[in-house]
Amino acid sequence: MESIGCTCLEAILGCKKTQKAGVKGPKGNFWSGNEEEIKQMKMERREMILDIKSHDFLEKVQPDFAKWASQYGGIFMFWSGKKPKLHISDPELAKQVLSNKFGFYRKIDVGPGIMALLGKGLVLAEGADWARHRRVVSPAFTMDKLKTMTGTIADCAEAMLTNWNEKKEVEVSLEFQELTANAISHTAFGSSYALGKEVFLAQKELQMIIITSFFKRQFPFNKYLPTEANRSRRRLERKMRDTLMDIIERRLESKEAAYGEDLLGLMMQACMSGNTMTMDEIISECKTFFFAGHETTSHLLTWTIFLLSTHQEWQQRLREEVLRECGKETPDADKISKLKLMTMVLFEVLRLYSPVMVLGRTAIKDVKLGSLVVPKDMDIIIPVAGIHHSKEIWGADANEFNPLRFENGVTKAANHPNAMLAFSTGPRACVGQSFAMLEAKIVLSMILQKFSFVLSPDYKHMPADMLTLQPQRGLPILLQNLSA
Ligand code: HEM
Repeated sequence: MESIGCTCLEAILGCKKTQKAGVKGPKGNFWSGNEEEIKQMKMERREMILDIKSHDFLEKVQPDFAKWASQYGGIFMFWSGKKPKLHISDPELAKQVLSNKFGFYRKIDVGPGIMALLGKGLVLAEGADWARHRRVVSPAFTMDKLKTMTGTIADCAEAMLTNWNEKKEVEVSLEFQELTANAISHTAFGSSYALGKEVFLAQKELQMIIITSFFKRQFPFNKYLPTEANRSRRRLERKMRDTLMDIIERRLESKEAAYGEDLLGLMMQACMSGNTMTMDEIISECKTFFFAGHETTSHLLTWTIFLLSTHQEWQQRLREEVLRECGKETPDADKISKLKLMTMVLFEVLRLYSPVMVLGRTAIKDVKLGSLVVPKDMDIIIPVAGIHHSKEIWGADANEFNPLRFENGVTKAANHPNAMLAFSTGPRACVGQSFAMLEAKIVLSMILQKFSFVLSPDYKHMPADMLTLQPQRGLPILLQNLSA
């Protein structure tokens, strides 16, 4: 068994131990590791425009991983400052890391920006705190609960589509961000969109600050300086906290029996009756669910519209399926469950354009992983996008849109049952995945019932890493109203 132990001292010495273990990687700068090179590569490719038929965007979006994987193979090491990171693109090793039942890995440190955005809610919580929170929130996402939300999600979609009636062209990326924020505000927090929108806008602004700061030089003490970005971050954190407190207080005042059965109600019951959650924890969890609950699903919908615009035959097949199962009526949960082709299409979109492109963990002790020993404190980077686009894993057509590969289910679509990592796997897998799939199916069905669509000639195919995978300049489409 070989150790890839790497401490800062070994970094200084050229990481001899790592090289001895056969794990190679780019040499980094003494202070900044490979960070400058990564920024440079990403800057150079930022304005790259791809052919609309090409889904092979790794060279643009993750040029660092693309370059080093071609030089060193799927397992290599690189440096973020003085922190070593191990890139692993083998789905079996990824599964072992993500499904580890003994808690040998924790979530990677995300820095103050993302912490401000998400709060220390479920996505970033650890150990006993995480288990306690997950127990409280899980009942909000059972199938029975989700079924009761279909009407609310459909109402939100209907409001958006009524607006589309007046339009010939829409920028769907923005439309879907508003729609999914609206849907999570109503279903999880029972709040009006007016209040939810304030949280949503504060999170958008914070997200832009985080993305912009990636390209600026960072020093370890940066977060303590009164820079414009830090001042804005604190202002937005206060704004989010005040708005969330407002939403919570309104629920307290409404004196609903046991605070309600939605996510907010369950958390408030846990706070008031069982003392299993504090008010600060509820606020953090609200931030997490506001962000996680809309950001990813909106991009799933956006990329689905992109792929159905460029594959008109699939747009037509899905429309036929929707009209067969739901007619022109608003779809309910039972009808939605019959949309087999739509499920395959959504999985294929999640494979090609997974909103979450990287999963990260840190070893909390020396851990055996395959034939390696990962030393304590080593970060492990699982390149979801790289795994999803690998020809070795998905076959020669890995970069093509082929929903039929999911005909026999997700576990049989590739040469490894856990190769599909859009929702991750193991105990920290996405708690909102059924909600996301349900919402995407309702919205998509309602769009297909009413409109056909093609890409606007103004569209530029520029997938970009903006914490999630997004079209850099939005997605304008041209609509045709089918009932006109
Ligand atoms: C297409 C939509 C979505 C995608 C692709 C997605 C993806 C993911 C992924 C990859 C993770 C795991 C991260 C990791 O292992 O480090 C995750 C976790 C999580 N997601 Fe989602 N998500 C989606 C929708 C949602 C929705 C709608 C909600 C809430 C309603 C949600 C809430 C969460 C939460 C709370 C976690 C943390 C779970 C835990 O650690 O216990 N997600 N999501």
